[in-house]
Amino acid sequence: MKVTVVGAGAVGASCAEYIAIKNFASEVVLLDIKEGFAEGKAMDLMQTASLNGFDTKITGVTSDYSKTADSDICVITSGIPRKPGMTREELIGINAGIVKDVSSNLIKNSPDTIIIVVSNPMDTMTYLVHKSTGLPKHRIIGMGGALDSARFKYRLAEALEAPISDVDGMVIGGHSDTGMVPLTRLATRNSVPVTEFLTEDRLSQVMEDTKVGGATLTKLLGTSAWYAPGAAVSGLVQAIACDQKKMFPCSVLLEGEYGLNDICIGAPVILGRNGIEKIVEIELNDAEKAHMQESAEGVRKTNDLL
Ligand code: 2OP
Repeated sequence: MKVTVVGAGAVGASCAEYIAIKNFASEVVLLDIKEGFAEGKAMDLMQTASLNGFDTKITGVTSDYSKTADSDICVITSGIPRKPGMTREELIGINAGIVKDVSSNLIKNSPDTIIIVVSNPMDTMTYLVHKSTGLPKHRIIGMGGALDSARFKYRLAEALEAPISDVDGMVIGGHSDTGMVPLTRLATRNSVPVTEFLTEDRLSQVMEDTKVGGATLTKLLGTSAWYAPGAAVSGLVQAIACDQKKMFPCSVLLEGEYGLNDICIGAPVILGRNGIEKIVEIELNDAEKAHMQESAEGVRKTNDLL
């Protein structure tokens, strides 16, 4: 199993590290355009192999896509991260060109690859990869909902004063500060709806804190987060690599599901060896349907900037 991660910045290197530590991939190629940067990160990560107990071979390369040849899965993290106060959508001017070039170079060397898009604005970048590459839709996956759901669970556990392992929940919709749809109605504490434990007000606070989870960290860190994004990507890569049939909310091209067409937005999907094995249409209540529609309008506005 060969995985390529493009972009050896904080997110890309964290992706590579978590993939390696989980030890399901034979090789991870880390590519960056900055001379020697990916090589340095890869070497530093390989020097953790005996300490963290993995056999995955991590190699770094500067701009040479031939080294990514025959990758089963390619992750695109390249592009600029946001600064405090910026929205993800403001990154489109620079990141669209980068994502277009990167995806074309990747496919030239790995025509059968599955692509996972991380670069922001992620839903629009995922849509761009569909439009610019023409890859079958089950092989293009946007990573946002897995990260947002992890933040949702973090906030739920905080509100419940419960261990994270007791909590489950999912966020669908756009990966944007305003467009996310945390499904509080369906969230559980060890199979019991969280609505049994938390008031409406507290749940609304959990939803709001979830939506701005990325912006909150960007304000604290001065740049975008990287540990949770990296870990979220590694979960998607593992589900595909190990054919786990796991369900994650991912940005996926919808063609009628959830009443939406010609848009990439977060929806529950089953991930396996073929990438998106199935898009799962869950029953939403009227409020959730309305949130999803609003979220789609926001994503479409950004798509129109392409
Ligand atoms: C985040 O939400 C980088 O979009 C990513 O942190």
